[in-house]
Amino acid sequence: MVKELIKSLLGEKNTARVRRLKSSLSAARAAWYSSGAPAADITRDSLNVRQLISVHMLEKALAVSNMKYLSAVKYPELISNIARLLDMGLPPDDYTVAVSAAIIRSALATLPGHEDEKSQLGALVSRHNIPAQDYRGGAEVVPSAEILSHANFDFNAFVSSRHSVRKFRDKVIPGPVIREIVRDALYCPSACNRQPFRVYYSEDRGKIAEIIKLGADGFVAPGVHDCLIVTCDRALFSPAELDDQEYVNGGIFLGYLVMSIHAHGLGSCLFQCLRSGFAKQALIRHVFGISESEVIVCCVGIGELEDEVNVACAQRRLTETVAVSLDS
Ligand SMILES: Cc1cc2nc3c(=O)[nH]c(=O)nc-3n(C[C@H](O)[C@H](O)[C@H](O)COP(=O)(O)O)c2cc1C
Repeated sequence: MVKELIKSLLGEKNTARVRRLKSSLSAARAAWYSSGAPAADITRDSLNVRQLISVHMLEKALAVSNMKYLSAVKYPELISNIARLLDMGLPPDDYTVAVSAAIIRSALATLPGHEDEKSQLGALVSRHNIPAQDYRGGAEVVPSAEILSHANFDFNAFVSSRHSVRKFRDKVIPGPVIREIVRDALYCPSACNRQPFRVYYSEDRGKIAEIIKLGADGFVAPGVHDCLIVTCDRALFSPAELDDQEYVNGGIFLGYLVMSIHAHGLGSCLFQCLRSGFAKQALIRHVFGISESEVIVCCVGIGELEDEVNVACAQRRLTETVAVSLDS
């Protein structure tokens, strides 16, 4: 029925075109995710993403106890990918290296046998001093009571008390506070837990002024004295993945970031950073030494609140016009 409906909506010719597109996309995906060993000339970035996705699939399989998947995984390949990443210059405490070792170790621990792979991994970890023990990997059982005990607060009051603030005290937020804010925002969901975000900050007023000048396309009030640049790294997405993943993931992170800023007792305001402004993005990357593969998702004004804060009312739409029931 769905196929018929699609045909009637798109017409015969377009349906065939969509079918061709879908099959070439899935072929690209299959080639990229293929369980065969990565090509000899694979780049470090590609191997990095591939490894992150593979070990994330392992974690998901562990979380749903999918023993069929867990038994079919080619562990020697995943272990040798860690060695290749080290050979390619990643340090032993690199996230992909250490988290892969932790996850593969957890997966192997659930399987009988696999002694060769277990000792191969153990040897690699100790030879390179990979801090796998400091990384949480695998799956765990969390009592729902524990989860719910933290969910029991007035979320509506929390979210509705955040406002875009456009005039702050004339202060720069110290680096340790920014890092705490980022630590908490990192708990946002991201595709295959890749966490492709970066937040650039400075305590140097000259640099901050430059960020504000270059980074914001939107309305920036003169009362903003500190600003962050939020980026998302395209290198952490495979070519076979849908485009715009960087903005979906970056946008989710941005939402958590403003909430984290609010939870830390500070104010924030997002500044429009137009996607179309590629030249401007290139300029920001150049000035601040940000890598070519990162897109600038947004700039975020941040600061201490004054005693009285003048904010726009920013009336929300009626819930019924946003939450639309499909049942009536
Ligand atoms: C992507 C994005 C870009 C924004 N750009 C600007 C901007 O350039 N200048 C500004 O003053 N506010 C900007 N805002 C803030 C919105 O105006 C604000 O979130 C909205 O009016 C709701 O108000 P509230 O944040 O106070 O609840 C932006 C918000 C988003 C999500």
